[in-house]
Amino acid sequence: MMDNATNLLLALHLLGVAVWVGGMAFALLVLRPSLGLLPPAQRLTLHTAVFQRFFRIIWHVMPLVLLSGYGLVHLFGGFAELEPPVHIMHGIGLAMAVIFMVIFFGPWKAMRAAQVKGDTVVAMVTVNRIRHLITANLVLGTITIVVAAFA
Ligand code: HEM
Repeated sequence: MMDNATNLLLALHLLGVAVWVGGMAFALLVLRPSLGLLPPAQRLTLHTAVFQRFFRIIWHVMPLVLLSGYGLVHLFGGFAELEPPVHIMHGIGLAMAVIFMVIFFGPWKAMRAAQVKGDTVVAMVTVNRIRHLITANLVLGTITIVVAAFA
């Protein structure tokens, strides 16, 4: 049985996971296929607004998921006490955080710079790169949730 503090921390952990992984699933599976309805120039403007909001949210949610995860590990008595699924969750969670930062400081910064210069072609290439990296993180996040269910 967990005490209330542990339950609360787990709830925060799961809310963060829901927003992060759910947000990526929405972006790739719902938003992207619908963007074809817009002409390319407007698509780019919408992409920028969407990424800006989503990445701002993830800058808060990603540390929340990691810190609540470490908090749970602490309350459970340290990594030595925990089952392999938690170690796998930890490893993949860190990889997801790195991939998010690669997106943010790589293609996202490049996309903004291309837009300032008015270089639409480069901006569109960076959107594609961002999409591939978000796909990687969605796959990793989904695997992590399945693995975590065995913890
Ligand atoms: C630094 C990274 C992370 C650490 C240290 C961590 C740690 C933990 C711990 C200790 C638990 C409780 C396990 C238990 O009740 O036996 C937990 C639960 C959970 N975590 Fe994480 N986690 C991390 C990242 C993630 C990520 C990135 C995801 C998903 C994308 C995730 C999904 C879950 C889920 C779904 C549960 C509920 C399953 C359960 O309670 O057994 N975690 N996490």
